[in-house]
Amino acid sequence: MPCRIEPTSRVAAPVTAPLPAGLEWIAADLERLAADGLERPHRIRDGRQGAAIELDGRRLVNLGSNDYLGYAGDVRLTKAASKAACAEGFGAGASPLVSGHSRSHERLERAIADLLDVPEAISFASGFAANSATIAALVGPGDVIASDERNHASIIDGCRLSRADVLVYPHRDVAGAARILAGARAARRRLVVTDTLFSMDGTIAPVADLCAVARRHEAMLFVDEAHATGVFGPRGSGLVEAAGCADGIHIRTGTLSKALGAAGGFVAGHADLIRWLRHRARAWIFSTAHPPAVAAAATRGIELVAAEPHRRVELLAAAATFRQRLAARGLDLGGAEAQIVPIVAGAAEAAVALSARLAEAGFFVPAIRPPSVPPGRSLVRASLSWLHTDSDLTRLADALVSCRP
Ligand SMILES: Cc1ncc(COP(=O)(O)O)c(C=O)c1O
Repeated sequence: MPCRIEPTSRVAAPVTAPLPAGLEWIAADLERLAADGLERPHRIRDGRQGAAIELDGRRLVNLGSNDYLGYAGDVRLTKAASKAACAEGFGAGASPLVSGHSRSHERLERAIADLLDVPEAISFASGFAANSATIAALVGPGDVIASDERNHASIIDGCRLSRADVLVYPHRDVAGAARILAGARAARRRLVVTDTLFSMDGTIAPVADLCAVARRHEAMLFVDEAHATGVFGPRGSGLVEAAGCADGIHIRTGTLSKALGAAGGFVAGHADLIRWLRHRARAWIFSTAHPPAVAAAATRGIELVAAEPHRRVELLAAAATFRQRLAARGLDLGGAEAQIVPIVAGAAEAAVALSARLAEAGFFVPAIRPPSVPPGRSLVRASLSWLHTDSDLTRLADALVSCRP
């Protein structure tokens, strides 16, 4: 049942009127962003995600999506969504707590709990909401959070929202996390938070070592598997499963929007943790549930992860070969070890220029700049998908070598 793809239409840039009094500061600040090489392009995609993508009317090999297993454009997810939309309507109509939690949401939460092999799960409208609401529901004033310096913005915002004391440890520094916890013995609660696969760096957290440290200091351990769900672990549940340390982790979150090809986020763990979140996670309580069709598509994504394990195995093998090829040719990958492969460019302008040269060569590899990465560490980030062929990745490696400054 492939959907008809409308022909590309270019959208004319809107004519902007001058900002009204009171908002003029925005024009000045936007100019400053542009001068610092930090202006963000607003791109329009035509058609669906895939190994190739049509952006602003140009067809490019697509290294700029998180569709790691190729399910975002898979017609099996579209069919599951259409079926649920026909049965349950499109909008959820209310927050989950009132009447928005449909049979499709219930099925999804069971599928997530089964995938992660935990008693219960709760789904959110986004991974961002899952992280920020959950951290704020677990700790508060008088508590201490130990947070990796490269954690995702949703974790950083959750920490701020909680009003706990947030102490940041150097990237993947287990001893640094331990020092924070040792100094926080008097705190009411202690929480260690980390991404498992870091979204900008493609590096992997020392999950098993963090478990040991959290246990020793009687701290809670929260891990975000956003980029690892579906990709790592024998059953595809993520890096916790791959590290074999599920018992030491109190809170596992993730997103349904990346390898699973749909949208939404989740938290999984003990039944009482999930019950607590239903009482205290404000982004779940005070926000409309995501559409049942989206929940049904995500459930189908989870089923496909179980049915098609070869996709994650092949993706990780292709990623390892790709990284070896680039490292052998002297590119700085900043320690990447997964399907997210950053090529460090340094200054923001250098990353933008490299991304533009790659686009000329036929590849969409987005530039990542502050505040997504620290100043001076701008990069282009290649997100590999199972859909890429060996020829795509060989040509990309050649292009990266010839386009670098
Ligand atoms: C590590 C990490 N956590 C959470 C999220 C948020 O997930 P979502 O896109 O579902 O809001 C992202 C999204 O990019 C992410 O990279």
